[in-house]
Amino acid sequence: MATGIPKTRWGSEESEFATKSASGNAPEVSLSYAGKRPENDILASDRAKLIELWRHLSTPLGGGSQLYFGDNLPVLGRLLQDPSVRGQVRLIYIDPPYATQSVFQSRSQADAYRDLLSGAHYIEFMRERLVLLRELLADDGSIYVHLDENMAFYIKAIMDEVFGRANYRNWITRKKCNPKNYTRKTYGNVADFILFYTKSDRYTWNRPYDDWTSERAEKEYQYTEERTGRRYKKVPLHAPGVRNGETGKPWRGVNPPPGKHWQFTPKTLDEMDVRGEIYWSSNDNPRRKIYLDESQGVPVQDIWLEFRDAHNQNIEITGYPTEKNPDLLARIIGASSNPGDLVLDCFSGSGTTLAVAAQLNRRWLGIDNSPEAISATLRRFAKGLERMGDFVSLRKPPSNGDPGETLPLFSDNQIADTGAQCSSERNPVIDFALFATQPYAGELDAVLTQWLSWI
Ligand SMILES: C[S@@+](CC[C@H](N)C(=O)[O-])C[C@H]1O[C@@H](n2cnc3c(N)ncnc32)[C@H](O)[C@@H]1O
Repeated sequence: MATGIPKTRWGSEESEFATKSASGNAPEVSLSYAGKRPENDILASDRAKLIELWRHLSTPLGGGSQLYFGDNLPVLGRLLQDPSVRGQVRLIYIDPPYATQSVFQSRSQADAYRDLLSGAHYIEFMRERLVLLRELLADDGSIYVHLDENMAFYIKAIMDEVFGRANYRNWITRKKCNPKNYTRKTYGNVADFILFYTKSDRYTWNRPYDDWTSERAEKEYQYTEERTGRRYKKVPLHAPGVRNGETGKPWRGVNPPPGKHWQFTPKTLDEMDVRGEIYWSSNDNPRRKIYLDESQGVPVQDIWLEFRDAHNQNIEITGYPTEKNPDLLARIIGASSNPGDLVLDCFSGSGTTLAVAAQLNRRWLGIDNSPEAISATLRRFAKGLERMGDFVSLRKPPSNGDPGETLPLFSDNQIADTGAQCSSERNPVIDFALFATQPYAGELDAVLTQWLSWI
């Protein structure tokens, strides 16, 4: 649709249709595929049996931070039974596998995780988890789902079903890497996407702002007050609509323009004028001054260019493949939660969400079924991040006669020093409990021994 003011959000015929179809529980539009389970079956899925591997003594179990090693489906099922978690999670961020048909390897070239699901299997894998996540989310909670173009459109349709189309907030486009030297006949692929939904229309929201650049500020705030040197812009003092009260009458002999009224009462306008906040043009047309130094910054929009993956921004990393930029998580956690809130990531990988949540004084829940991921998370909690330079790779497994290959995940031209802010995590994170799902075959024993030697 072209830029402009839409006549209606949903046209009148569509509204009538929407009301009818919303009268049952069925969504207006739904995705149909083989193996789609009824929600009730998903909600009755098996719950994980857990063993506690480690706990910091001061960690209160109910509502405290917790890291789980295991498949997230039964762990989420288990968390649903915990009244300190069900309906209490203020923010969920997930960065699941993207159906890339690859095996991702860590710095030690051990397989970190397999991303081999595709089509309907992938969609249902995601839907099962999204249904449980919805139940864990607080009524004023938010969920962000990070994907690439492979599956984002399908999962958008599924999220409309699970969370309701009315609770869709943004489709955020993130620049994930530096420009690539493409040999394929396509435009370079530098974007991925974050779908932002809420549980209701009453949700936690701390609007993020970007700082003004001097160029942009000078363009928007063109005038400088002689007396004070303050930069300002001029905006109308009137608003649409006729009023019969005081705001519809002349002020200082000036009528509001036809069909409009003054935004303030004459008394307030007088006070503003005394403070020098009104600009009078040569033909006595009053306008309001809006000062640059009173602006919080430029409200953040839905294209994010500054959070390329850690490997692409030459900032410090854990070395786990596909780890996200901590500053990206800081933006999301800051916008959609407050200190003390519970933040959940059930594809937690190297623990980016968890470490940033801890830094920002949120409680957190993390789940991952890769020992490499738990190992990277514990190392990061104890020792922080490290300068990059480690080899991180992606293995294409053999298929249909193709022998497969191992490729570096980040080519040299993607690794540029941009002089970006380095967001090192320095404070050890130790206030949490660590669990594994049963059966547990000792996959983390060596990692735990190391963890105990670090803290
Ligand atoms: C894209 S990575 C997440 C990276 C993470 N955002 C970070 O910054 O490091 C996806 C993660 O999901 C985990 N994963 C995949 N399937 C899972 C499952 N069924 N249960 C738990 N974790 C799973 C993988 O082990 C992998 O660590």
